[in-house]
Amino acid sequence: MSNTLTWYGHATLGLKTKDGYRLLIDPFFSGNPAATVKAEEVSADYILVTHGHGDHVGDTVAIANRTGATVISNFEITTWLSAQGVEKVHPQHLGGGFQHPFGYLKLTLALHGSALPDGSYGGNPAGLLLTTNDGKKIYFAGDTGLFGDMALIGEEGLDVAVLPIGDNFTMGPDDALRAVRLLRPQIVVPIHYGTWELIDQNPQTWAERVTAETGAKVVVLDINGQMTF
Ligand code: NI
Ligand code: MN
Repeated sequence: MSNTLTWYGHATLGLKTKDGYRLLIDPFFSGNPAATVKAEEVSADYILVTHGHGDHVGDTVAIANRTGATVISNFEITTWLSAQGVEKVHPQHLGGGFQHPFGYLKLTLALHGSALPDGSYGGNPAGLLLTTNDGKKIYFAGDTGLFGDMALIGEEGLDVAVLPIGDNFTMGPDDALRAVRLLRPQIVVPIHYGTWELIDQNPQTWAERVTAETGAKVVVLDINGQMTF
């Protein structure tokens, strides 16, 4: 057994830890043109939300209400989710880490926006740095542009980095390649592309460049594809 990462399309991911915790990250199923799984079909113990945009908050309220999952996000978003009827939330904020049952989760900087679907203030957007209980480090960049402090995140020694490559709303392929140089992960997984024409990219072309120019291994997942680490 190891940790298993599943990509449901766009920025929606599942992570089943080695010790059996089921995490959902940015659970956007309803209205996600890339997703084939439905919000009613997924299970979760915890839901992690990077920022307030609709393509990341997605089905959080419905899934949390159905499964009883605890939602972890920044203070502003968890407050908003509580007002939407979500019972179990855990607020954190940028730079802060907490030892959850599934591992140590720290919220990191992200260069982006975070307005919630109804226009409410969603605080600052975040990335997620998770240290699993078996000592693996996985960094979910969230929606972000390139920033130099990715080098600080890289100093932690990343096993996996999950990066947006779609361009337009986030880093595109060129900046995502520069991000790999700063982060120096063992494995990199591209996401947040191909959902709409506006963010169409060829992940294989990007993978070839990253392989040629960095020490990282690129894992391009199919929709509902999985990798273990
Ligand atoms: Ni966004
Ligand atoms: Mn997005």
